[in-house]
Amino acid sequence: MLVLGVESSCDETSVAIVKDGKEVLSNVVLSQIDIHKKFGGVVPEVASRNHVYQVSVVFKEAFSKACVEPQDIDVVAVTYAPGLIGSLLVGLTAAKTFAMLYNKPIVAVHHLAGHIYANAIEHDMVFPALALIVSGGNTELVYMKDNYDFMIIGETYDDAVGESYDKVARVLGLSYPGGPVVDKLAREGKDTYKLPIPHVDGYNFSFSGLKSAVINLVHNEMQRGNEIRKADLACSFQEVVTKVLVDKTFKACLEYNVKNIIVAGGVSANSGLKERFNKENIYNYNIAIPSIKYCTDNAAMIAVAAYYKLKKKKDFSDLSLNAYSNLELA
Ligand code: KG4
Repeated sequence: MLVLGVESSCDETSVAIVKDGKEVLSNVVLSQIDIHKKFGGVVPEVASRNHVYQVSVVFKEAFSKACVEPQDIDVVAVTYAPGLIGSLLVGLTAAKTFAMLYNKPIVAVHHLAGHIYANAIEHDMVFPALALIVSGGNTELVYMKDNYDFMIIGETYDDAVGESYDKVARVLGLSYPGGPVVDKLAREGKDTYKLPIPHVDGYNFSFSGLKSAVINLVHNEMQRGNEIRKADLACSFQEVVTKVLVDKTFKACLEYNVKNIIVAGGVSANSGLKERFNKENIYNYNIAIPSIKYCTDNAAMIAVAAYYKLKKKKDFSDLSLNAYSNLELA
């Protein structure tokens, strides 16, 4: 089965062609990072306009790289939620236009399902599993009893973990997106700053207190004319974040009796998170983390998720499919 994937929920315009849910024939990602860098974050209107400029070029490139003709496609998979509404609508309209032109069925894919199924490209997904989704807009723990079966057991009350990384980077005067830069800096520093560990009920999370603690610390030190040891502060921040994420994930694994952990979303590229998962894996859980190119937003993961969605149920959408900025996975 050849699935055409389309993803445009934030600032990446991406089109991919994937065979049988595994073989990525093309995965073209056109990032707008350089455009949004000067604003210190994604500007929604600018993002939608750039998706419009780029989407046809990205479609053509995906077909040319895969050496596939439009008629060969079996199914069109598209991200319809959640995300920036203008951005989502561009990808959705492009996908629907393609489907209408070539008379192909459409499968609607939730962006977070895409992140989870990014793991199926390089790993065999075994259920029951627990998925830790850590991205720029979401932080969730999802229990998966079976394929394409999602039960949210915990989520953030405020900031997503990627968002906190971006805000901490901004106060430290680092570039956008902050996650990779803070991660790199953290590796050069020592955990010398005492930051508060968020204590939140059950499997929920909260990162805004931690983020504010970093911001206040930086402002106070600046007012006193003290130097901020950026690498140490990045390291201390990363220590707290990764501890909270890993501790809660392992605890949930015990309660839900799962042996398989799936880590998904942009922050799964974090070196500290991977290291801690490996170091503290005393029960030998099987931990799947995608390689960097599949951690951040891309259309291959959307195509793969659609393939597994269809394996569960022939759930097709028609041309009335709409986009939703907020929509729960489960
Ligand atoms: O999944 P993603 O590409 O987009 C969303 O769906 O949100 O995630 C982007 C987020 C950004 O906040 C970025 O700073 C963060 O992932 N990120 C990282 C790393 N690489 C990307 N955060 C921490 N460490 C990293 N190495």
